[in-house]
Amino acid sequence: MRARRQIPKEQDMAEFDVIVIGAGPGGYVCAIRCAQLGLKTAVVEGRETLGGTCLNVGCIPSKALLHASHMLHEAGHNFEKMGLIGATPKVDWAKMLSYKDEVIGQNTKGIEFLFKKNKITWLKGWGSIPAAGQVKVGDEVHAAKAIVIATGSEPSSLPGVEIDEKTVVTSTGALALPKVPKSMVVIGAGVIGLEMGSVYARLGAEVTVVEYLDAITPGMDGEVQKTLQRLLSRQGLKFVMGAAVQGVTKGKGTSRVAYKLRKDDSEAAIEAEVVLVATGRRPYTAGLGLEALGVEMLPRGQVRTDDRWRTNLPGLHAIGDAVAGPMLAHKAEDEGLAVAEVIAGKHGHVNYGVIPGVIYTTPEVASVGKTEEQLKEEGRAYRTGKFFFMGNARAKAVFQGEGFVKILADKDSDRVLGAHIIGPAAGELIHEICVGMEFGASAEDIALTCHAHPTFSEAVREAALACGDGAIHA
Ligand code: NAI
Repeated sequence: MRARRQIPKEQDMAEFDVIVIGAGPGGYVCAIRCAQLGLKTAVVEGRETLGGTCLNVGCIPSKALLHASHMLHEAGHNFEKMGLIGATPKVDWAKMLSYKDEVIGQNTKGIEFLFKKNKITWLKGWGSIPAAGQVKVGDEVHAAKAIVIATGSEPSSLPGVEIDEKTVVTSTGALALPKVPKSMVVIGAGVIGLEMGSVYARLGAEVTVVEYLDAITPGMDGEVQKTLQRLLSRQGLKFVMGAAVQGVTKGKGTSRVAYKLRKDDSEAAIEAEVVLVATGRRPYTAGLGLEALGVEMLPRGQVRTDDRWRTNLPGLHAIGDAVAGPMLAHKAEDEGLAVAEVIAGKHGHVNYGVIPGVIYTTPEVASVGKTEEQLKEEGRAYRTGKFFFMGNARAKAVFQGEGFVKILADKDSDRVLGAHIIGPAAGELIHEICVGMEFGASAEDIALTCHAHPTFSEAVREAALACGDGAIHA
């Protein structure tokens, strides 16, 4: 009997196993893991370079400017105390920007190298999804068994505020100003506002942060919020709290930011050379064609996904800033890894209860798990162990004795529920707690772990000791 001709199913004709749309931290990590798992993978990216917002106009360039401006601050404030005498360096802004661009270049090229190494195809251009299992880039339509939306987010502005990225800027413009302004108004005391505000304050600008709420960094531990605001104020940042910005009017050389104080509805305004709008970001999914496909969205514009990052359209997944959850590069990376495993038929998992958050000011701020406010709201019995960096020899030696480590542990089981750190290298120290939480550690487990002396990490151990019989150097 003649064998029946096999008619390939549409899926079997797919050119790729996976097409990832967007080469930010979520997308590129997802693609690399897909390739490692043996899937034929392509990434669609319209920027000239890989790495998305984080590498090109976000996390990485801001860290370069934070580092350079921190060095300047150290030279001006602490060098003499250590016997380092001499003229404080002057700022060559053009050179600082090219240092920043070099850092970006090294990292974006690094991802290009990783794509080549893992045989990932870069489909250059902006992608859309004309039908299930298809991605259109330019005039070409590519077929894929699985598609991952990893298109990230874009800055969201306010009504009455027109962004020109020159004098009224988002974080993107703030990373490439033509000169260091004499004055800057930052709208929003969130992560971007405080990090970029710190950079320009250290470089000599008069920085005023106008914030709608009564506390900075919404969602952070209350004590950390207060300490950070106090320390940043001491560094010269001014804060106008409880102020709803009404609009920005451009004038000659300066822009006028009008605001209304929430406590009494009184109106006021402030002028500055540059206005940085840092009032949050929104998912970037425009142009993908999701509406025509009937892809379900959440009220705040994110793509709706289930616990395996699947949308309601078969074979279509979404991760990172484009879906619900904190807009953080590392959260996107974790989802990228996990969705790759899911697509490869394995088990992908993200523990949303243990995602650290870091603010790269000086001092740094880092937190993971529950805040005291959340625990109180949940009515949970907990113990607090707190240790001030003032009792840490290493921190004092490098003029960073401000701040504290606070560990929150369950009152009965002693299991660590959260930690909040403000102080030197907080963004590094937090990971000891993250690992501990992943392993279900008790505060005592951390307290009984030998910590090298002299390190900043000893402050974490001391806070853990403070959850029990007490810290030693307090
Ligand atoms: P954000 O959500 O952290 O802060 C925005 C702030 O603007 C809030 O405090 C809010 O109350 C305030 N605001 C909103 N409307 C206002 C108005 N009309 N007048 C005055 N204040 C107003 O947003 P941000 O800083 O723009 O960051 C965007 C996203 O990027 C966040 O999700 C953040 O986590 C992420 N990001 C993370 C970084 C990190 O992990 N180090 C660095 C930079 C950004």
